[in-house]
Amino acid sequence: MLFGALVALVLGCTPSHPQSTFDTLGPVAKSQLNLFAIIFWIGLVVFIAVEVGVVFVAIRFRKKKDQEGEPPQTHGNNKMEITWTVIPAIVLMLIAIPGTMTIFDNLVSPQPPEEGGMLIEASGRQWWFEFVYPELGITTANEMRIPVGEVINLDLESRDVIHSFWVPKLAGKVDMVPGNENKMWLQANETGEFFGQCAEFCGVAHANMRFRVIVMNRPDFDLWVAEQAAEALEPVDPLVQAGAELFTGPQAGCSACHTIQGSRRARGKVGPDLTHVASRLHLAAGIMNNTDDSGNLNESTLQSNLRSWITDPEKIKPGNIMSRDGAVYNGGQPANLNEEQISALVAYLMALK
Ligand code: CUA
Repeated sequence: MLFGALVALVLGCTPSHPQSTFDTLGPVAKSQLNLFAIIFWIGLVVFIAVEVGVVFVAIRFRKKKDQEGEPPQTHGNNKMEITWTVIPAIVLMLIAIPGTMTIFDNLVSPQPPEEGGMLIEASGRQWWFEFVYPELGITTANEMRIPVGEVINLDLESRDVIHSFWVPKLAGKVDMVPGNENKMWLQANETGEFFGQCAEFCGVAHANMRFRVIVMNRPDFDLWVAEQAAEALEPVDPLVQAGAELFTGPQAGCSACHTIQGSRRARGKVGPDLTHVASRLHLAAGIMNNTDDSGNLNESTLQSNLRSWITDPEKIKPGNIMSRDGAVYNGGQPANLNEEQISALVAYLMALK
């Protein structure tokens, strides 16, 4: 048990850990880490001073060998009482100044949307994240792509229970509360993929409510925006057409919950927008990886992930709403579809690039 705890502790402190708050890559997370350092070192000094005092008193006033009964008792000492009130008050003020400054720095965006900063509306759902870029006409899920070195303004909301938006390397967590829009901003100083995680217990699949922030160079980001803003292509291949029919038809019923821009019948708002699902590097709120070792999308991995996910989502992400409420899953069972039907659905989703 002790060994297990030690291993967890050591692994948890590795600086290369993808969710380490000690390896910051943006100004917001950096300022929060600096604040942590200030409070930690002041706290350490106080701790040492108090412990030294305790040990000193325990030794200095211990019971002597020849001592009878209780030692002399004293009550009230104005000098000491004033000292131990004033010193902590000063320490608290020392902590409050940088603390308050950091709170306001993190609250006020250096480039709000009114001044041209990018705006993303992030909303938490049981158990996935939706990202809407209102100025760009893009909706995506579980994958927030942003340009490197730019201020990103986030409006945070929830459609069901309280969630919390957290990308440890970029910014501290902020709650997503139904009926109350919280705001935050962040900026990433390096390209790459950053782990995000819901940080507020929100029900059975909370631990599987993850997302990624993918930080790109401006030209790559613009290219991605152009692709995402386009409507889905009309299916031409017969298998893809069969998949599209199933998607909107009564047997699979996918379109009751999922939107596909360009399809007149797929307008559901319960699950993620799937217009460009085949461009996503992860499925099922960040728990299925569709990439190769170098982080690029791997078509055959995506294909087999889609197949596993459609076939039995309950096995992959227990408690998810799709396998609970989708009629084709009959309350958490594997899909009531044959192999050919699943192949057709996979082919259709693979065509949504
Ligand atoms: Cu959403 Cu925890």
